[in-house]
Amino acid sequence: MFLIHSELPWWQSAVIYQIYPWSFQDSNGDGIGDLPGITSRLDYLKGTPDSLGIDAIWLSPIYPSPMHDFGYDVMDYCDIDPRFGTLADFDRLTSEAHRRGIRIVMDLVLNHTSDQHPWFLESRSSRTSAKRDWYYWADGKSAHRPPNNWAARFGGSAWTQDRQTGQYYLHSFLREQPDLNWTNPAVRDALFGVVRFWLERGVDGFRLDAINWLGKDTNWPNNPRRLAWRSYYRQVHRYDRDQPQAHEALRALRAFVKDRPETVFVGEASSDTPGGPAAFYGTGSDELHEVFDFRLLRSPWQPDAFRRLILESDRAVPLGGWPPVVFSNHDQSRHIDRYGKGGDPVRRARAAALLLFTLRGTPFVYYGEELGLRDGTLGRSDLRDPYTIRYWPWKKGRDPARTPMPWDAELQAGFTTGKPWLPLSRDWRETNVAHEQWDAGSMLSLYKRLIRLKKESNALTAGTYQPVDAGPKECVLYQRIFQAGSRTEAMLIAVNFSSQVQTVSIPTTVPMHGRVGTVTLSTDAKRETERWNAERFQMGPDEGIVVRLE
Ligand code: GLC
Repeated sequence: MFLIHSELPWWQSAVIYQIYPWSFQDSNGDGIGDLPGITSRLDYLKGTPDSLGIDAIWLSPIYPSPMHDFGYDVMDYCDIDPRFGTLADFDRLTSEAHRRGIRIVMDLVLNHTSDQHPWFLESRSSRTSAKRDWYYWADGKSAHRPPNNWAARFGGSAWTQDRQTGQYYLHSFLREQPDLNWTNPAVRDALFGVVRFWLERGVDGFRLDAINWLGKDTNWPNNPRRLAWRSYYRQVHRYDRDQPQAHEALRALRAFVKDRPETVFVGEASSDTPGGPAAFYGTGSDELHEVFDFRLLRSPWQPDAFRRLILESDRAVPLGGWPPVVFSNHDQSRHIDRYGKGGDPVRRARAAALLLFTLRGTPFVYYGEELGLRDGTLGRSDLRDPYTIRYWPWKKGRDPARTPMPWDAELQAGFTTGKPWLPLSRDWRETNVAHEQWDAGSMLSLYKRLIRLKKESNALTAGTYQPVDAGPKECVLYQRIFQAGSRTEAMLIAVNFSSQVQTVSIPTTVPMHGRVGTVTLSTDAKRETERWNAERFQMGPDEGIVVRLE
């Protein structure tokens, strides 16, 4: 059968690999990853028969930054932080990546800048500064009371009073991250100029940070209160996010790049927005191409929850839009630890990998997850991220998921010749690329096989998602079906969420595109090429299988 890939926009058949630049590969011994380091590791990602086989890298921010939020506080949108290298290093990375068929997706923070950005320095300098209205300034309610009750995502009030002029500025995250005023056309033009700058340098798309925060109700009404443990959730975020303004901005952005239709915009929108994250697809062709939906990522490893959330998020995507599939990123504990709680983490992570590459959508792999890398065990003095520090030890925070990539069992796991900026994860001597590369039973080998299988299958790449309603409830079953003319390719996927053997039987009343087939991939490799029958089949503990239906 012909392969559909060449007919789809590239991002619909792509596997995207997220690199946290601080932690991928250091090239100069300062203990911090950098761009020449990433370039030196590209063969691992693509270009040789043994490569992982991904299609694009998403780089978490590499712009100059005081690093209060590790790059999500940008000081200059059109340069590279000296810790990571130079624009020349970036150009080399881009051309070396493109030579191997790897696209580049930049992280772009549109909602806020660093408080050290020249725009903000000018804005705060006086009430009459030319850039005053590039950010949100307001008078307090009284001498020491902020304009309203809005809470910042990282704790405390979303307003900070500035000594220079006595007014308050708005920051939805850290006080070092003032929010840009998107009602001001000059702000929009400046940021669209940034998009143009990177497109002209050759990037292929953008991951848009915290995109549902772009608009605010500038009458500054209080948010309604509600009961919750953590301060941020003690209010309904009715007026400080998810305003029509954000949708207008995205429509304008999409129109701005219409001369480059290959450009992809993947947005991060938090889940409890009206209409859910899917609202940010717009009609399906006028806002974002892909919108992260973190409900699955936040779910416990529980079959009913997965069944429901997979279906809901799949069906929420309008025609023209495309779902990303993501279980881990730089803001969350790694999914091997989250899903692994109360069970066998490695076996569950293997089953999760099978879901990642067989659900409908673009899989996003967070560096190290393909090795089964665990969260780092960090002490108070190791922590770097202000948000992690603020809630430590009550919340695990974000630093544990940001530890260096383990390449081998040599000094500092081959990540640096110096002292790594965060300690290595405890299991780096066994969990590293060199150790797993030639072991057919490793997590890395499973990821490679799954990626290959997805690429070779129209059903897994472009097929529809159809749940299969059959017991027992511990197993999640679905079909991926691709039809072209009179030809059909159908795959059955089954994942056992329990640690017991399960016997499954699919009643003849359940619509199936074939009741016999062959197991093409199992997380327990020994079953492969086994014949399969819908009447009755067994699933091993935590096992996941892909069956080619006949
Ligand atoms: C996004 C990023 C996170 C960052 C925040 C503020 O959620 O993923 O790392 O701290 O936005 O920019």
